[in-house]
Amino acid sequence: MTTISVIKADVGSFPGHSRVHPAILEKATEMLRKAEGNLITDSFVTHCGDDLELIMTHTHGEDDPGIHKLAWDVFIECTAIAKDLKLYGAGQDLLSDAFSGNVKGMGPGVAEMVFEERASDPVLVFMADKTEPGAWNYYLYKMFADPFNTPGLVIDPAMHEGFVFEVHDVIDKRKVHFSTPEESHKLLAYIGAPSRYLIKYVYRKDGLIAASTSTQRLNLIAGRYVGKDDPVMVVRGQSGLPSVGELIEPFATPVIVAGWMRGSHHGPFMPVGLCDANCTRFDGPPRVICLGFQICNGKLIGPVDMFDDPAYDRVRSKCNEIADILRAHGPFEPHRLSLEEMEYTTLPIVEKELTDRWEPI
Ligand code: F6R
Ligand code: MG
Ligand code: MG
Repeated sequence: MTTISVIKADVGSFPGHSRVHPAILEKATEMLRKAEGNLITDSFVTHCGDDLELIMTHTHGEDDPGIHKLAWDVFIECTAIAKDLKLYGAGQDLLSDAFSGNVKGMGPGVAEMVFEERASDPVLVFMADKTEPGAWNYYLYKMFADPFNTPGLVIDPAMHEGFVFEVHDVIDKRKVHFSTPEESHKLLAYIGAPSRYLIKYVYRKDGLIAASTSTQRLNLIAGRYVGKDDPVMVVRGQSGLPSVGELIEPFATPVIVAGWMRGSHHGPFMPVGLCDANCTRFDGPPRVICLGFQICNGKLIGPVDMFDDPAYDRVRSKCNEIADILRAHGPFEPHRLSLEEMEYTTLPIVEKELTDRWEPI
């Protein structure tokens, strides 16, 4: 069995919350290289905006203390570099000082998947900055439950029965499974509210794992504003799963997500190549990158930078137009998040100071 673990954290960036420093990428690459052939089979280090992304393959399964410790050690060492260079927000996502066996609940985001390698196994790793984990809901639904996006659902007999979605409720800490197509309306009733209900896994009806996402909500863990979670997800494709082209097709339509400036604004989710995975305008706009690999006996063959392509130019330009329209709203909703979601930002501190000024009417 092969395991893919994508573990990420913002451990400091420059300038401000824009991008990961090359010295940090170098350090992380070097540490994972050292572990190759030992604890892990293969690795690839990259960044999306201010988030350091560790992609690792191994044979130890999900939630392995050794793998999580390795990631934690990388984040600690990289935080030290961030501190030396006085990078912004050094160690920002490391909410605890001491590692206790699993990075979940400690700040870093984790998407892991265990599978028996097929004769040929294409895997896509999606990584985002300046948005929340629920951002994947729309895309996973399109990939695995919408025949208008994925004709394979209609044409390929292996997919005809559909997929099962595991949905997590991050407020009440519970989970539920929905089978599509028969329960797609029930599924949408929940996942259409992506700040609370997140798709964690997608399986084919025969149990084959197809997708896995990171679902940690930093603000809920920390109980205070610590930015958005900037999620990652791993998706398998082809031979009885949506094709690579079907998996990246939903990103050709501009969709608005929560996050952006101060984790407090709706903005367009822009698919970009690695060279553009740096947040600029208004600390954004929210961005997503996609790296494609073939998995060969645990080795990562690749990556291919899937959105570094003129085929995605048009959606990028539409995203820029949407960004203009939303920015024109300034501090007004619906650019600014709803009051309920603003509870997890720094706005309540401002409101608290004004409590005494209010008089009854
Ligand atoms: C959003 C993000 C940034 C910061 C903003 C203010 O996730 O990281 O938009 O929220 O730059 O940062 P501080 O409060 O650190 O000055
Ligand atoms: Mg940051
Ligand atoms: Mg980030």
